[in-house]
Amino acid sequence: MSWTNEADQDLRARAQQVIPGGMYGHESTRLLPAEFPQFYLRGKGARIWDVDGTRYIDHLCAYGPNLFGYGFEPVEAAAAAQQRLGDTLNGPAEVMVKLAEAFVSQVSHADWAMFCKNGTDANSMALVVARAHKSRKTILCAKGAYHGAAPWNTPRPAGILPEDRAHIAYFQYNDADSLVDVFKAHAGDVAGVFATPFRHEVFYDQYEPDVEYARLARRLCDENDALLIVDDVRAGFRLARDCSWEPLGVRPDLSTWGKCFANGYPISALLGSEKARAAAKEVFVTGSFWFQATPMAAAVETLRHIRETDYLERLQNYGRRLREGLAQQAGMHGFGLRQTGPVVMPQILFEDDADFRIGYGWTVECLKRGVYFHPYHNGFISAAHGDTELNETLDATDRAFEALKAGKAALKPNAALMQLLAHG
Ligand SMILES: Cc1ncc(COP(=O)(O)O)c(C=O)c1O
Repeated sequence: MSWTNEADQDLRARAQQVIPGGMYGHESTRLLPAEFPQFYLRGKGARIWDVDGTRYIDHLCAYGPNLFGYGFEPVEAAAAAQQRLGDTLNGPAEVMVKLAEAFVSQVSHADWAMFCKNGTDANSMALVVARAHKSRKTILCAKGAYHGAAPWNTPRPAGILPEDRAHIAYFQYNDADSLVDVFKAHAGDVAGVFATPFRHEVFYDQYEPDVEYARLARRLCDENDALLIVDDVRAGFRLARDCSWEPLGVRPDLSTWGKCFANGYPISALLGSEKARAAAKEVFVTGSFWFQATPMAAAVETLRHIRETDYLERLQNYGRRLREGLAQQAGMHGFGLRQTGPVVMPQILFEDDADFRIGYGWTVECLKRGVYFHPYHNGFISAAHGDTELNETLDATDRAFEALKAGKAALKPNAALMQLLAHG
C-alpha cells in the first residue's frame, strides 16, 4: 500500500500559524513519530481515515469514547431525533431525568447523577462536593495518576501555582502504608480520596490494585468521614457494566465518568450515593453546554446497549485474542513484548526500550500497514472490533515485526519525548 501524509503535513504547517504549537493537549502528536497522523477525515465502526485518506483499524478509539464503533447507528439515530427537537435550550429536556434514572439503576453505588462535559469537569465537581461534605480541605490522590487538566490536577507545571495544589496530598498507588500515612498526616481534614480503577499511566506498564488496598481505601474513608471517589473516566464500562471497583466489592461515595458512555458525544457525569447528596445540592457547578439534550439522548441509548448486549464479552474476546496473537508473533520474531493491564485496554511496550525507539519503530510499521496502535498510551477496544479486524490486524503486526527484525524500520528516539522524560 502506498502511504503518504502530505495533506496532514500541510494542515500541520497551517495549524502552526493559528494554533499554539500547532496542537495542544493529549491529542497533539508532538511526542510521536512524524508518520502518526495529526488530523482525521472520518471514522466508521473500528476504522478511522486520516486526512490523507489512509484507513486504519483503530486501537485507540479516540482515547476511549468509541465503545460501540464510530457512527454506531442506534446511537446516531437517538442523537439525531433529539437534535431535531432541540439541543441547547433554556433548560434541560426530559432526557436528562431519563439519563439520571438509567445511571442510578445501572451503577450500584449511585443514588443520583449530575452531568457536565469532560472528565476534568466531573473530577473537579467531585472535588468540590467532597470538600463541601464536611467543610474540609484536603484531597488525596495517587502520585502520577491522571485526573484531568485543571490547575489542581494537570500533570504539566506551566501556568500552575503551588497554591493551586496547596491542599492536594499524594500517596503511592496500591501501597497500603502510604495511604495510611497520608491519612495520618492530614488527620481530621481529609475531604476525599481519588481512586483510579487500575494503574494506567502513560509510558508505564499497567497493573491492577490489590483487593485489600481497595478495601483499605474504603475503610479509611469511613473511619475518617471522607468520601471515596472512583475516577472511572477512562476505564468506565470497559471493566464492568457497573462501577469498576464493584467487582472488587468496593463501593465509592462518588464516581466520575466520561469518554465512552455516549459513544463519542460530549458528556461526562458525577454519580453519588445518598451520603453525598446534601453536599452535591449545595455546590454551584454549571456550564452553558452541560445540559445539551443531544449527548444525553446518545448516552441513554449507549447505556441501553451496555445493559442489554454482550458488548463487554466481545471486547474481552477480541482483546484476549489480540494479546495472545501479539505475544506469539513477538516471540517468533525475537522481541520481548510487555502487554499489561486489562485486555480491553491494552498497554503494549517493548523490553529494553527505555527511549521507546523500538515501540515507535513497530507502531510506525503497523501504521504503514493500516493498523493504529499508540506507542506509549494504553489502547482501547470497541464492540466493532470483530474477527475481520483481528485477522487484518494480526497480519499487519506480523509484517511489522518482520520489518523491524529485518532492520527496515527507522529506529530513532524522539527529541521532545526524551526531554519530557528527563525533565517532566
Ligand atoms: C482517568 C482519567 N480521568 C480524567 C480524565 C480527564 O478527562 P477529559 O480529558 O475528558 O477532561 C482522563 C482523560 O484521559 C482520564 O483518563
